[in-house]
Amino acid sequence: MRKPIIAGNWKMNKTPEEAAQLVRDLIPLVKDAKCDVVVCTPAVNFAAVKPVIEGTNIKLGAQNVHFKASGAYTGELSADMLKAAGCEYVIIGHSERRQYFGETDKTVNLRTVAAVKAGLKAIVCVGEMKDEREAGYTDMIVMYQTQMALHGLTAEELDNVVIAYEPVWAIGTGLTATDEQANETIGVIRNEEAAAKIRIQYGGSMKGSNVKGLMAQPEIDGGLIGGASLKAEDFAQVVNF
Ligand code: PGA
Repeated sequence: MRKPIIAGNWKMNKTPEEAAQLVRDLIPLVKDAKCDVVVCTPAVNFAAVKPVIEGTNIKLGAQNVHFKASGAYTGELSADMLKAAGCEYVIIGHSERRQYFGETDKTVNLRTVAAVKAGLKAIVCVGEMKDEREAGYTDMIVMYQTQMALHGLTAEELDNVVIAYEPVWAIGTGLTATDEQANETIGVIRNEEAAAKIRIQYGGSMKGSNVKGLMAQPEIDGGLIGGASLKAEDFAQVVNF
């Protein structure tokens, strides 16, 4: 059985003080969750959030990681640094990084391998653009992105990978893939030999009002939540689906 996992992707939101308050509000609301609960906060908030969630069922995550261990990479953070700061998870290859920060399938793979080998759990994002879906390329794109991202990982290392299927046209738009669309594409990803036992989340405008239908689908193992992760009550509704 694959344990569901709901992760909040706070993106570029919340100061340390706001972040600490959000997790303080969240703790009592999600304490009985049946799924793994993760908050991926901006790195400046790790020190504020970590002591608050200590001893609770909420895990800390980052939103990106560099693939080198150390060196002259101004502005970057290594997997060891994230671990030392208390992170257990890291999001890799989010579509916003692919769109705005030059992330490629190659760098997604480098980051995924570096993160997993350092002992982090990687949440690897894949997903098609609107025109790609309309042209019928969705399956090909998600299969390719998945194969590229996981290349070089052993079967054991794959236990520390979560895939987030996020149709780019559904992120922050209020548009959600239908339950069946999400289930079908996640099934395609799962058919990749490498992804057969990996947990696969859906992401893209997932929220309290649509979580139940999505989570009822057999292939969907959880969610990567943007907008609805920024308020404790909203995120708790998703976590307690
Ligand atoms: P959204 O973002 O829930 O605001 O659509 C999801 C994501 O980008 O991970």
